[in-house]
Amino acid sequence: MQRDTVEEFREKRDEALSFLKNETDEQPDYLIILGTGLGRLADEIDVVDSISYSEIPHFPDSTVEGHAGKLLFGSLSGKKVVAMQGRFHYYEGYSMQEIAFPPRVLHAMGAETLIVSNASGGMNPNYSRGDIMLINDHINMFGDNPLIGPNDDELGPRFPDMSDPYTESLRKVAEKVALKKGIKMHEGVYLALSGPTMETKAEYRFLRNIGADVVGMSTVPEVIAAVHMGMDVLGISVITDECFPDALEPVDIEKVLEAAGEAEPAMTEVITGVLQEL
Ligand code: HPA
Repeated sequence: MQRDTVEEFREKRDEALSFLKNETDEQPDYLIILGTGLGRLADEIDVVDSISYSEIPHFPDSTVEGHAGKLLFGSLSGKKVVAMQGRFHYYEGYSMQEIAFPPRVLHAMGAETLIVSNASGGMNPNYSRGDIMLINDHINMFGDNPLIGPNDDELGPRFPDMSDPYTESLRKVAEKVALKKGIKMHEGVYLALSGPTMETKAEYRFLRNIGADVVGMSTVPEVIAAVHMGMDVLGISVITDECFPDALEPVDIEKVLEAAGEAEPAMTEVITGVLQEL
């Protein structure tokens, strides 16, 4: 695979950055990336500027997803945010570097905190479809990493520390918000792999045994890129299907989207509540 040199990356990032600075005066502090079926939080943003990915130099082309991706700049709970409407998945064929590019550009624009959500399969037997889980750690089983290749020392270190990728202080705020609002929220480990196949029973058994509570196909690339740049991270997962190997039912994408829709208000309340507290 063709990988950009540090110089090529910087040139591309700076071109994207100049373009965005020309299009908007907004300087977001928070980058929000929303998961499958969890896009409605974007409706709560007071949008000032909306910019299509296709217009932004070097942004990955999101036509694969079937709908145009957009950056929404504006405010949410009184905080300056930019939301990515439409996310890039590894299983769609994007490289790790392509998935990391938007967070890198938006960090250069000012975003110091990443708020990320996703849909996942619950393997912890205490979890049910429609529950939400605060991500307190992850296991990267993509077999790939956005930091492979030459390191840009101005971006971050060669060997980034991963002892607290999901910032403890933000987790504490999220816990407090959930408690105050009476929202049931688990806390656990998100394991990511490439997909697009769902897992076999043997795989679920294995993934549960190695310490994961939920499994999904996203989030980890963006989080690794963010941690590399020293950003704070808050991650929330919505359990959209139950992955208990001894009672496994065939996955039904309709039901996955339905569960995401059901859990979305709780997730939205936690995220807007956290932003309010910060
Ligand atoms: N496996 C992987 N990714 C997922 C799942 C799952 O069971 N559910 C939602 N995303």
